[in-house]
Amino acid sequence: MAEARKIIIDTDPGQDDAVAILLALASPELEVIGITAVAGNVPLSLTSKNARKICELAGRPGTKVFAGADRPLMRQLVTAEEVHGQTGLNGPDLPEPTMPLQAQHAVDFIVETLMREESGAVTLCPLGPLTNVALALVREPRIAPRIREIVLMGGGYFEQGNVTPSAEFNIYVDPHAADIVFRSGVPIVMMPLDVTHKALTTAARVAAFRALGTGVGEATARMLEFFERFDEEKYGTDGGPLHDPCVIAWLLRPDLFKGRHCNVAVETASELTMGATIVDWWGVTQRPRNAHVMRDIDHEGFFALLVERLGRL
Ligand code: BDR
Ligand code: CA
Repeated sequence: MAEARKIIIDTDPGQDDAVAILLALASPELEVIGITAVAGNVPLSLTSKNARKICELAGRPGTKVFAGADRPLMRQLVTAEEVHGQTGLNGPDLPEPTMPLQAQHAVDFIVETLMREESGAVTLCPLGPLTNVALALVREPRIAPRIREIVLMGGGYFEQGNVTPSAEFNIYVDPHAADIVFRSGVPIVMMPLDVTHKALTTAARVAAFRALGTGVGEATARMLEFFERFDEEKYGTDGGPLHDPCVIAWLLRPDLFKGRHCNVAVETASELTMGATIVDWWGVTQRPRNAHVMRDIDHEGFFALLVERLGRL
């Protein structure tokens, strides 16, 4: 088998972040060289703890977890306890983690790793607000050409927003950071709501995780049952969108997704549409193509991959 692809997962767990982390840790094609936590769904003290809970659930307490930014670059932190619960991981009863949080700041870890590893070796996988990634790019601009790719969950175009009528949560929480990332020149793959709203945790799919008959399968089923109740009510669907695992699935099976290379710009001025991702899908501007924007997913294949991989843990 080819050498494992080195990734850093930047995340604000969150039940869907948790499933993304489990998928990555279960996949031998990927080497998770670090998990960096950021404030988002819940405050940093909880996201940095939740990331460790998930590593322990996966049986991987040796994974390095770093705490990063506790607030967005310019705006007040907005969290989403109404979706994820007070802990951010409501649903299963996971024990307090015993593995340590690394002493190094997440942004220092990202910069140091990218400067040390061979250029083009490391992929960044942001699953939350882009604060840590933007801070790293600003602090050490020489990392930009060394990043293989940024594969991120964020934004929405045809589906518009989920936290305001025009903005998706991750981009809305730190639009200035997102603006820095989308202007960085680093190759970007974007998993917007247009994709994730097609990846629904139906009752049958949750049952398939439970039927694994393992601790990971049961915890996943409980996380999804808690997480989806808010979105089922909001969208009137069977199940809620399983956003963040789409990022990891793309690394494993890009054939499950379809998209287009185009320009993406982030709204940072208007309070009304703050954090909107303006995708030039039809190529009507001369703005440079800076992102591969996904629009479609083979959702049956995606959930089959998830169940098969989580079954390995
Ligand atoms: C994104 O926001 C968070 O609530 C989820 O974890 C996901 O990253 C979806 O808008
Ligand atoms: Ca997330």
